[in-house]
Amino acid sequence: MASESVVKTFTVAVVLAVACSLLVAGAAIGLRPLQEANKVRDRKKNILLVAGLYNPRESVEETFEQVEPRIVDLASGEYVDKDKLDPATFDQRAAARDPKLSVKIPADKDLAGIGRREKYSLVYLVKKDDKLDQIILPDYGKGLWSTLYGFMALDGDLNTVKGITFYEHAETPGLGGEIDNPRWKAGWPGKKVYDDKGSVQLVVAKGVAEEGNPYEVDGISGATLTANGVTYIVQYWLGDDGFKKLLERLKTEGA
Ligand SMILES: Cc1cc2nc3c(=O)[nH]c(=O)nc-3n(C[C@H](O)[C@H](O)[C@H](O)COP(=O)(O)O)c2cc1C
Repeated sequence: MASESVVKTFTVAVVLAVACSLLVAGAAIGLRPLQEANKVRDRKKNILLVAGLYNPRESVEETFEQVEPRIVDLASGEYVDKDKLDPATFDQRAAARDPKLSVKIPADKDLAGIGRREKYSLVYLVKKDDKLDQIILPDYGKGLWSTLYGFMALDGDLNTVKGITFYEHAETPGLGGEIDNPRWKAGWPGKKVYDDKGSVQLVVAKGVAEEGNPYEVDGISGATLTANGVTYIVQYWLGDDGFKKLLERLKTEGA
C-alpha cells in the first residue's frame, strides 16, 4: 500500500527530525539571554552572601546597590577608568581566555593551576560613611576535578576575612563538595591573610586547624586535594600576581 511506502516513512522521519531540532535549537537560542541574566543575578547574590549583606526579603538588584563594582589592573593595582572598561559589561571569564586581555602565568607562579590570568579583574567595594567597609575579590583555580570559582570578602582592614564562597565547581558531593557546607565556611570569618611582612599565610589545614592560629582553617576530611586547591587559590589571588598590589595601594591611599 502507498501509505506504507519506504519513501513516505523516510519523509515523515526527516520532517519530524528537522522540526524537533529546529524547536530545540530555537529554545536554546531563545532562552540564552534569560540564562545569562540568571547567571549575573546568581553571581550578585553570591557577592551579597559572602559580604553578609544578602536579605531574602529584598530583591538582589536592590541590595546590590550598596556594592560598587570597580575594575582593577592587577599589574599596577590601579583602578581602570569606566570609559576604558565598564564594570557593568566586562566579561571577566572571556577576558581570561582572550590573549590581548590576559597574560600567561609562569609555571613556578601558577599556584592556582589556571595557565593564564586576566589582566583586569572586577572587585566589589562596600563603603560606610565614605570609608571602605569591605572588599569582595573574585578568585578561581583548580580543585581535584574542576575549576572552583568563588569570592572572598575582606574587612576594611584588608587583612581579616569576612567570608568565602564558591559558586561554581564540580567537586564530589560529600567530599570536595563540602566547600559549600555552611559549617566549613563558618570557619573562615576572622582569619587573617597576611603576616607582618605582607606574605600570604592563610591555609586550609590538613585536619583540624591549630587552636588560636589566625592563619589556619579546618581541613575537609577525605577531600584534602580540593582543600589544597582552595589554599592555592587563596595564596595565588591574594599574592603578588593577584590582588596584593591593589590591597597595598588601598591601605595607603584609601578606597
Ligand atoms: C569517587 C571519588 C571521588 C573523590 N572526590 C574527591 C573530591 O572531590 N575532592 C577531594 O579532595 N578528594 C576526592 N576524593 C578522594 C581523593 O582521591 C583523596 O583520597 C583525598 O583527597 C585525600 O584526602 P584525605 O587525606 O583527607 O583522605 C575522591 C575519591 C573518590 C574515589
